[in-house]
Amino acid sequence: MKVLLAASEVAPIIKLGGLGDVVGSLPKALQKLDVNTDVIVPFFPIAKINEHIHKCFTMLVPFSGETYEVEVYNTKLPQSDVDVFLLKNDKFFSKGGLHAFANNISETQMFSFFSRSVVEFVKTEFNTYDIVHCNDWHTGLVTHLLTDELGTERPATLFTIHNLMYQGVGDAGVAVDVGIVPGMHKIVDWDIEDGDINLMQQGITSSDFINAVSPSYAKEILTIEFAGEFSDLLIAREGRLSGILNGIDSNAFPRYYDVSNWDSGKASAKKKLQEKLCLNIGKDKPLFSFISRLDPNQKGLDILHAVIPEIYSKGGQFVLLGTGDKVWEQKFSDLVNETNNKDLHIKIAFDNDLANEIYAASDFLLVPSRYEPCGLIQMIGMRYGALPIVHNVGGLKDSVSDGVNGYVFDAYSAESLLQAVSRGLNLYGKQEHSIMVQNAMKADFSWNTSAKEYKKLYERILETV
Ligand code: GLC
Repeated sequence: MKVLLAASEVAPIIKLGGLGDVVGSLPKALQKLDVNTDVIVPFFPIAKINEHIHKCFTMLVPFSGETYEVEVYNTKLPQSDVDVFLLKNDKFFSKGGLHAFANNISETQMFSFFSRSVVEFVKTEFNTYDIVHCNDWHTGLVTHLLTDELGTERPATLFTIHNLMYQGVGDAGVAVDVGIVPGMHKIVDWDIEDGDINLMQQGITSSDFINAVSPSYAKEILTIEFAGEFSDLLIAREGRLSGILNGIDSNAFPRYYDVSNWDSGKASAKKKLQEKLCLNIGKDKPLFSFISRLDPNQKGLDILHAVIPEIYSKGGQFVLLGTGDKVWEQKFSDLVNETNNKDLHIKIAFDNDLANEIYAASDFLLVPSRYEPCGLIQMIGMRYGALPIVHNVGGLKDSVSDGVNGYVFDAYSAESLLQAVSRGLNLYGKQEHSIMVQNAMKADFSWNTSAKEYKKLYERILETV
């Protein structure tokens, strides 16, 4: 079976968020299961290439009445035999990937051009892919274009929803730009009646199968609460919708201690971090941390902000690492400016190395997201024995068991988050805490299980379509 995974990012080459982590690690696990998986992404200037790279060929891609040259480069995912194809075009991709996709042309236009280029690539490769596995709105037009170009001979498609709230809404003109004319696809005509196009909606309605990145999120998005007006679209396709929990690439998160010596390993990681961040030094101070994109709609910033002073007033320490919404960056920074407290550190940055140091040093990792399709951070935290404290939603619900390997709170409120924090503090330093840390560190969140689920889903798709 041959699969082409199409996405906007692939870690560690292009990493902007969790989507990149998934696209950079799932294919390696699939390859081990004999699913021949290639990856295709835009060649943004931020791409970090450490492996051999070479230019394979140039394709001609029609768009908006013109024909553009797209250079196809090939490299491998590090430590693997997975082929990554990077598509280079100065007009469309040269400024992409910076500051959350800031571009001199609209994001929807850039990714519509990407979708069209993916389809031209499939054609150039003699249509040898059985499945094109699309990810999020960036690839929302791929199925339509495959149908237009290859008809019934086209590969089957799977559309994975990583985050339903980012939808890629743009000028309806992009439909014409990619070559879709009125009357060709009813669901496009219907979508653009109001003057804009929603690329997430197109992906959901056109793809052969759909899945979400955790079983709970796949159920949640059938409700208005989590999906708004998209709940109806998803209910209509429920028979073709499933949920598979993401895994993590354990190699990307080396541990310097294990279940047998976590206590001393964490103590020294904590001391190092406390020194580095100029925090009060003390191995017995429970360290809570939060590492995330600062997205106020998703990441639970309001309830987190309310709880931080409680943490240090109860003898804990708190570290935040993240960037995003400017208002919230300032609000968190003000906490330090106002108090000058040495048990509090706010770092407004995107820094993978520091993130790994924080995981290793932390006793608790806060993930109070209002909604969370999967969330990788709670799994990474558990790997380092940092007990996750999570809201009972999506992939958080599917990976953390309350009182076993972390703490789960039900109501989305500062009070219930604080209750969970207090429960953690009460057990901290006791044997119960130690047992939970060991449970967390023993849990297997590698791709082993989930890649098998993907393989099964691919097989089901090929049997059905
Ligand atoms: C998005 C989601 C996150 C998920 C990630 C990878 O970033 O918000 O929950 O883990 O995609 O699927």
